[in-house]
Amino acid sequence: MTTDYFLGVHQQELERLDRQHTAWQPEMQDLIKTANFADCKTILDLGCGPGFTTFELANNCPNSQITALDKAALYQEYLHFQINKNQTTNIQPLHADILDLTSQKGQYEGAFCRWFLAFLIADLPSILSAIYEKLEPGGVFAIMEYLTLDSFTSSPPHKSFDANTAAWNNFYLNNGGDAKIGMYLPALLQKAGFTIESQKCVGGMSPVKHRWWNWWRDAFENFAPTFVKQGLMTSTDFDELKDHWKKQEATETGFIYSAIIVQIVARKSY
Ligand SMILES: C[S@@+](CC[C@H](N)C(=O)[O-])C[C@H]1O[C@@H](n2cnc3c(N)ncnc32)[C@H](O)[C@@H]1O
Repeated sequence: MTTDYFLGVHQQELERLDRQHTAWQPEMQDLIKTANFADCKTILDLGCGPGFTTFELANNCPNSQITALDKAALYQEYLHFQINKNQTTNIQPLHADILDLTSQKGQYEGAFCRWFLAFLIADLPSILSAIYEKLEPGGVFAIMEYLTLDSFTSSPPHKSFDANTAAWNNFYLNNGGDAKIGMYLPALLQKAGFTIESQKCVGGMSPVKHRWWNWWRDAFENFAPTFVKQGLMTSTDFDELKDHWKKQEATETGFIYSAIIVQIVARKSY
């Protein structure tokens, strides 16, 4: 199994992923409906993390068996704990690296991933082919990934806000990821054999304290210290952005425009 991925695997990140799930929960619920996942007997949740997406699938698709794949041991332990605590019967954790599972075939009627493929850019064509193979004929694959972070805008503007966005883009690129994956993912899916059934972009206007405002501020607070350490952002920008968030919240008139996230529903041929 390859080493942990670059956003990190630890308790603080687990808790941030929980809050992040809440921030984007309505959009995930819409995607579950668009993909008709409730009709799938078996669904593979790829890069499920601590399982917030897995429980969302399990709760919305009570007749489906969900397999929850992730390579992070801590997140799989948390998922096992939650399954036992809630006496959940339709979730099966799978502690594995997607890169080691390329040979399994035709096991699932549905597959889902959110913020997963963007970490696997070098292997993307082979991973998409492997997911295609794992699906039964007619199987559905629903995806939520970044289209771009460049849409992030602050009103009023501040250069430290833009410096933080640039740091995120470079953090992905320096570690073999890409936060613009949504721009070329549909073409790669088609190359792997999928037919695109639907594409939609979500995100946008986020006034002070909106769930996406809180999400992005949370991400800033969790990751900017690392960006400063890695030379992706100056400590002056870090201090100024802390100040900017605080001032905006006090005025309650500011807003941000969020990252754009693409939601794709793709199907394997019958
Ligand atoms: C940003 S988290 C997203 C978690 C979850 N999908 C969500 O939306 O809350 C990305 C997850 O992908 C997992 N991951 C990254 N590369 C992986 C790989 N090669 N195989 C399996 N899991 C992987 C990480 O361990 C992490 O839990």
